[in-house]
Amino acid sequence: SELSFIMIKPDGVQRGLVGEIIVRFEKKGFKLKALKLVQVERSFAEKHYEDLSSKPFFAGLVEYIVSGPVVAMVWEGKGVVLTGRKIIGATKPAEANPGTIRGDYAIDVGRNVIHGSDSVESAHKEIALWFPDGVVEWHSSLHPWINE
Ligand code: GTP
Ligand code: MG
Repeated sequence: SELSFIMIKPDGVQRGLVGEIIVRFEKKGFKLKALKLVQVERSFAEKHYEDLSSKPFFAGLVEYIVSGPVVAMVWEGKGVVLTGRKIIGATKPAEANPGTIRGDYAIDVGRNVIHGSDSVESAHKEIALWFPDGVVEWHSSLHPWINE
């Protein structure tokens, strides 16, 4: 079924929000397929955000992503890309609803705590980049209690 790449950015790690964020995806019913804490190189951050390379904020964005370790994850479930974006909230925290991660925990667009894939296609690209050895296939006994 559908996969999304979710990354807790350096501010989220530094602020101790890792647990809070994982809880939201877990309790929703999504399935964790991969997880690692990594300090990425500048060239890797540039590759992850290559579609934004012409934006004026690109250099600052890359600087932000390499400023400390990030938590990279793959979550699985029906509609996880779109629903994941809803759980995360709008890019600009001022426009993110309360109850979303950015709405609850962020103020600045350049410190917005978390990344989520914006389409199934970019999820596949991002998962291949961050988890080249693949994800973990495992059976969840909860599956039939969450999925009809
Ligand atoms: P991601 O999940 O991180 O990809 O965010 P997004 O999909 O909601 O937004 P987008 O892909 O357009 O931008 C990627 C990231 O660049 C954002 O999450 C912000 O951290 C940063 N960013 C986007 N727009 C701006 C901006 O106008 N100013 C600054 N400083 N940063 C921005
Ligand atoms: Mg994006």
